[in-house]
Amino acid sequence: MAPPDSAGAQPAFLQIQDIVKDFNGFKAVHGLSLDIAKGEIFALLGPSGCGKSTLLRMLAGFETPSAGRILLDGVDVVDLPPYQRKMNMMFQSYALFPHLSVWKNIAFGLEREGLPKPQIAERVEAMLKLVQLTPYAQRKPHQLSGGQQQRVALARSLAKRPQLLLLDEPLGALDKKLREQTQIELVNIIEQVGVTCVMVTHDQEEAMTMASRIAIMRDGRLLQVGPPGDIYETPNSRFVADFIGNVNLMDGSLQAADGEHSVVADADCRHRLAGRIAGQPGQAVTLALRPEKITLSRIQPEGRYNQVQGTVREMSYFGSFSVFQLQLASGALLKVNVTNTQRHRDGTTWGDAVWASWSDDAHVVLQA
Ligand SMILES: Nc1ncnc2c1ncn2[C@@H]1O[C@H](COP(=O)(O)OP(=O)(O)OP(=O)(O)O)[C@@H](O)[C@H]1O
Ligand SMILES: [Mg+2]
Repeated sequence: MAPPDSAGAQPAFLQIQDIVKDFNGFKAVHGLSLDIAKGEIFALLGPSGCGKSTLLRMLAGFETPSAGRILLDGVDVVDLPPYQRKMNMMFQSYALFPHLSVWKNIAFGLEREGLPKPQIAERVEAMLKLVQLTPYAQRKPHQLSGGQQQRVALARSLAKRPQLLLLDEPLGALDKKLREQTQIELVNIIEQVGVTCVMVTHDQEEAMTMASRIAIMRDGRLLQVGPPGDIYETPNSRFVADFIGNVNLMDGSLQAADGEHSVVADADCRHRLAGRIAGQPGQAVTLALRPEKITLSRIQPEGRYNQVQGTVREMSYFGSFSVFQLQLASGALLKVNVTNTQRHRDGTTWGDAVWASWSDDAHVVLQA
C-alpha cells in the first residue's frame, strides 16, 4: 500500500482541482480538490446523494465538469472521451454480457481495441488466473455466484491495464459475509496489479477495511480526508464523528486549561482532557467519545473527572461485544461498548445503577 500521505515532492498521480458539477443550477459537486498518490486505494464515503458517483463519473469521463481540472499523471483529461483516458470504471451492476462466456467477457474490450489474438489470449488467461476463475472460463455469467461475477467484472476492468481503476459500489450486490471475504480478495488483487484505485461506497466498514485513505463527502464537499485510523480516532466534525462508527457527542463549556490539561464541564460530567484547548473559560466545546473507550464498573472509580453514574436503559448483544445505553442525570444517553470476554456476564441488567469512566486521552474535541 502506498504511504497514506504521500504529498511529497512529486505531483500526485491523480489531481482533482476545484471540480464543480452543476446540474441546471443544482450543484452536485462544489469546487472540490483532492490529490491521490500512485498505488493508493482511495475511498469516497458519504450519505446517499452527496455526489460520490458524480465525482467518479467525471473522473471516468461520463460526465463533464462545469469547472475545474482533472490531471492524470500530469495530463489534463477533462476534454478526453472515456475510452481515451487510461482509466476503467467498474459499475455496481457489473454490466457483464449475459450471452458471452467469462472468457469472452474479459476479452471484449481487448478485441475492440484490436489487440492481436495471441496477446488477447495471454491477457485473458492471466486475468482468469489473477481472479482465480480459470476453471470457469467457459461459463456464462448466470452460471456464476454473485462473488464470481464480481471477479469477472474486475478481471474485465483490469484486462485493459488501466492506470486508474474506478469502482462504484464494487461489492454492493453481495451479501454481508461474502462482501467481507471479497473485500480482502479485491485489495489483494488491486495491490498485486499495482493499479491506483478510487472507489465509492456508502459502507463505512468497507472503506475502513479496503482503503489506504478515505474522504468523507457531504453535499458535494469534502469534510475530511485521511487514513482510516485518523478519520475514526480524530474526526474533525460532528458529522464525521457520527457518520463513522458510533459516538457519544457531548456539548460542554471550557472551565480551565493549563499547559497539560483542560477541563470541560457538561450537564452530567466534568471532563479532563490531555492537552490544552485554546480559548476563554465559558466557551462552548463539543466532545466526541467513542463507546469502546469507556469502562463500566459497579463501584465508583477514583478521581473527580471523566466518570459519570447512569442507569442501564438498553443492552444490545452483538456476540463479541454488547452495547449498553446508560441514562444520565440530565436525561442524556451514554453508549458504552463492553467486550464479552467471559461467556457469562456479571449480571448487570436493566435498571441497575453503574459507573462509566474513561481516560484523559479518550475524547476528541470537535471543530464543527
Ligand atoms: N443527471 C443529473 N441531473 C440532475 N441531478 C443529478 C444528476 N445526476 C445526479 N444528480 C444529483 O446530484 C446529487 C449527487 O448524486 P450522486 O449520484 O453523485 O450521489 P451519490 O453520492 O452517488 O449517492 P448514492 O450513494 O445514492 O449513489 C443528487 O442529489 C442527484 O440527485
Ligand atoms: Mg452513487
